[in-house]
Amino acid sequence: MIKKGIILAGGKGTRMSPLTKAVNKQLLPIYDKPLIFYPLSILMLAKIKDILIIVNKGQLNQYKKILPDGKNLGIKISFIEQPTPKGLPDAFILGQKFIGSENVALILGDNFFYGQNLTEQLLNYRKLDKGAKIILHKVLKPEQYGVAKINKKNKVIKIIEKPSKFISDLAVTGLYFFDNKVIKYSKKLKPSKRGELEIIDLIKQYQKKGNLSSDLIGRGGAWLDTGSIEDFYKTSAFVSAIEKRQGLKIACLEEIAYLNKWIGKKEILKQIIFYGNCEYSNYLKKIIR
Ligand code: DAU
Repeated sequence: MIKKGIILAGGKGTRMSPLTKAVNKQLLPIYDKPLIFYPLSILMLAKIKDILIIVNKGQLNQYKKILPDGKNLGIKISFIEQPTPKGLPDAFILGQKFIGSENVALILGDNFFYGQNLTEQLLNYRKLDKGAKIILHKVLKPEQYGVAKINKKNKVIKIIEKPSKFISDLAVTGLYFFDNKVIKYSKKLKPSKRGELEIIDLIKQYQKKGNLSSDLIGRGGAWLDTGSIEDFYKTSAFVSAIEKRQGLKIACLEEIAYLNKWIGKKEILKQIIFYGNCEYSNYLKKIIR
């Protein structure tokens, strides 16, 4: 069972400069809320309540203004600063104390997931006791991602970071589930040619031992990228279209916490005061009406 989750929300952010000169990428808006709300909502939908957010050095205060400690959401949020972006597995080295002897989920701060059966799938992934699980999604340009080739039983037979030659169109999304060995395996890794510890090298260690499983987000689900400025606008348009059509919000953290019975009306009213007079507050008012 996975009870702890890490959001890796640092990174250089150079691709989105000058937007990211003063503000961390994960605090920029995807339509009506900061990007970080979306990966956080995914962990909360998986009923993970103990969450570590890893941020860039010097950017902790920006985050604490919007996500102080999680109490307002009935969860626990702690923060660590990453001195330099050393690669994704650094999350498990920096997070060693937080993880302790437990299993852990990792979600990248810039990953966006949406879909009909998502909550059900997340609750299944949460059950992981041993090994690692990766979540795959079909994309048109796999060369931009980690890519996995699977057999008919969803067994991963090949996995490569940003392959120059086509092996499969299944991207490895930025949502991963690991047992406690992840700390030990991460410490063994050596930096790749791009000078980073690679998550794919970490996953390969589980694959070698036959302890890797995978699952697919089908075509009814969306996994969107927020890697570039263009992607921010496209993902914002997606969220806006769905929210305006349904009158329901994607990644409203208070709504998820309320439906999970982690908070009650009193806490929602406090949040309405915190956010002030805005559309998001109006939505919160509707939830408790
Ligand atoms: O989005 C999924 C992809 O994410 C996977 O398919 C790839 O296998 C995986 O390597 C990763 O690829 P990227 O090259 O897109 O990762 P990027 O360097 O853009 O970092 C992803 C997020 O993690 C981003 O929000 C910044 C944050 N980050 C990254 C690094 C390397 C950190 O907070 N610290 C880091 O050291």
